[in-house]
Amino acid sequence: METFVLAHNYQRPDVQLMADTVGDSLELALEAREIDADRIVMCGVDFMAEVVKTLNPDREVVVPDHRAACGMAMRLRAKELREFRREHPDAAVVAYVNTSAEVKAEADVMCTSANAVEVVSSLPEDKIIFVPDGNLAAWVQKHVPDKEVIPFPEHGCCPTHHSLSPSDLRELCSQHPDATVVVHPECPPEVCAMADFVGSTSQILQYCEKKDVSKIVMGTEEGLAFRIRRETGTEVIVPGHMVCPDMKINTGEKVERVLEARHTPEPLRVELDPDIISQVEEVVEEMFRLTR
Ligand code: 13P
Ligand code: SF4
Repeated sequence: METFVLAHNYQRPDVQLMADTVGDSLELALEAREIDADRIVMCGVDFMAEVVKTLNPDREVVVPDHRAACGMAMRLRAKELREFRREHPDAAVVAYVNTSAEVKAEADVMCTSANAVEVVSSLPEDKIIFVPDGNLAAWVQKHVPDKEVIPFPEHGCCPTHHSLSPSDLRELCSQHPDATVVVHPECPPEVCAMADFVGSTSQILQYCEKKDVSKIVMGTEEGLAFRIRRETGTEVIVPGHMVCPDMKINTGEKVERVLEARHTPEPLRVELDPDIISQVEEVVEEMFRLTR
């Protein structure tokens, strides 16, 4: 059986080295549309595997460990969004990729950190409900001042990125005054305001490549450091606590096990309700249409 392995930029080095493609959420979704292997192994967290399944409903989509789930995505339920939406009937709903398939099915369009500003800017509505990351919503609001961006739920954030405080960053910068500061837009707004560059994981990598940066202080999950060091030679300093425990659940050994298995054990197979698949497909395709 032909198998294609996708891995997110935060995966452990051994997992990244086993992958056919490593990327940010947008690149993984774009790649997932083009795969014609019978089986796809998605090394990342739950919502990434759900997007891959949505784009490949007839292929077997497999994860190395079914417990890898995004801490931010799992805190928002579809029912809560449905109720909130009723209070704002004139607003469009933009779902960050870090949401469950059921939540995406309630939205008008999906976005990733790489295209959130572009997606929101291109919508005709002036009012946008943005779920579930309040920090990314603030980043979008700053860049799309003509619209009202309403974050939902209250205090929605990524525990790993939200834990980076301006004082942590200031301290690292004072220890490395020669470093360029790059952060992910899931960081708090005060942290983003201190950075030389803010972008998705792959946009950070591309920035280091293009600008030939020799040293960075990096405000995102530490897994990205491996790829940046390997592909650009840039020295990377990461705050020690920026580790997403769920992204680390997958290991090279677990990937090997699924690659060798003749039959994938049921919990590792990604299954979604066909109605949810068709609703999510529309929301994902709308993102591709708006950001072509
Ligand atoms: P990217 O889409 O930038 O890779 O980010 C995914 C993610 O989970 C960030 O925490
Ligand atoms: Fe989710 Fe944060 Fe982990 Fe990304 S780093 S997968 S947003 S918990």
